[in-house]
Amino acid sequence: MEFSHIPVILEKTIESLAVRPDGIYLDGTAGGGGHSSEILKRLGDNGRLICVDQDPSAIEVLNERFGGDSRVSIVRSNFSEIPGITEELGINGLDGVLLDIGVSSHQLDCAERGFSYHTDAPLDMRMSQSGRTAADLVNELSFNELVRILSCYGEEKYAKNIARAIERERAAAPITTTLQLAEIVKSAYPAAKRHDKHPARKTFQALRIAVNGELDRLSEGLDGAFASLKTGGRLSVITFHSLEDRMVKQRMAHWCEGCICPKDFPVCVCGRKPSGRLILRKPVEADENEQKENPRSRSAKLRCCERINLTIY
Ligand SMILES: C[S@@+](CC[C@H](N)C(=O)[O-])C[C@H]1O[C@@H](n2cnc3c(N)ncnc32)[C@H](O)[C@@H]1O
Repeated sequence: MEFSHIPVILEKTIESLAVRPDGIYLDGTAGGGGHSSEILKRLGDNGRLICVDQDPSAIEVLNERFGGDSRVSIVRSNFSEIPGITEELGINGLDGVLLDIGVSSHQLDCAERGFSYHTDAPLDMRMSQSGRTAADLVNELSFNELVRILSCYGEEKYAKNIARAIERERAAAPITTTLQLAEIVKSAYPAAKRHDKHPARKTFQALRIAVNGELDRLSEGLDGAFASLKTGGRLSVITFHSLEDRMVKQRMAHWCEGCICPKDFPVCVCGRKPSGRLILRKPVEADENEQKENPRSRSAKLRCCERINLTIY
């Protein structure tokens, strides 16, 4: 299957990175290489690009696409490991990092990866193709853990009904496929609510986040990426739902915060200086045309922060 993924907010994202021809950049979610190839176009012979992805299928595609380019290193890893990746490559500071979070259209469209509730497939959802599957979680987690995951990661109002239905079904036989789970979720929804959006949407999002540890990896990834930037280096992040965007917004605000002394102190005693500066005051979203052409871009938000100080609080 060909790698089909249209990079979102492409122009503004590359612009936010202000690529220098001789700079060193890291694309932590290189996927099909859409954003990476635009970074590469702006690099001269002395520039360098590190393409990271945790999915072996993406690594295969990246090797085919960029394998012959001596400026590119392709690394199968998690972006939560950026400091280790750069150290291993002997790189001392990055000029820019891009994180375009979440799953690719390719992963969603490969039925056998088990991300979609539209086609029947094993209930998998692992981006890295290793570790515990969604089926493992659905069949093994306690009622309380299921409710927590569905509520926290899916913001699912009917989490308890769904967890109860899962418990009932798995007592009879293990839940192993995407459509089996989608039907269970549907049956747990109030009849009047079954026809708005697909009832399984939030459950599938929640399980995907849990299977891939997405919020924990993002938290580690943000800190590791920012710590790996040189002064003047930039971190651009594209997110697709509010849980991720909130984390990025708060982390960037924290880096950009200066003195935290109480307002009535006549002089600063904390000595804290901002270590970052926001390049985009507000998140950038896909324009109307892009949203029409690529519905996946509708929920995308781009934020960017520049490192201005080597001390990070
Ligand atoms: C939205 S796609 C990125 C697409 C890419 N920007 C392009 O233009 O083709 C996200 C990619 O990031 C990868 N990914 C998601 N979380 C990751 C993580 N924590 N570490 C490494 N790769 C990750 C996924 O496997 C997927 O290939």
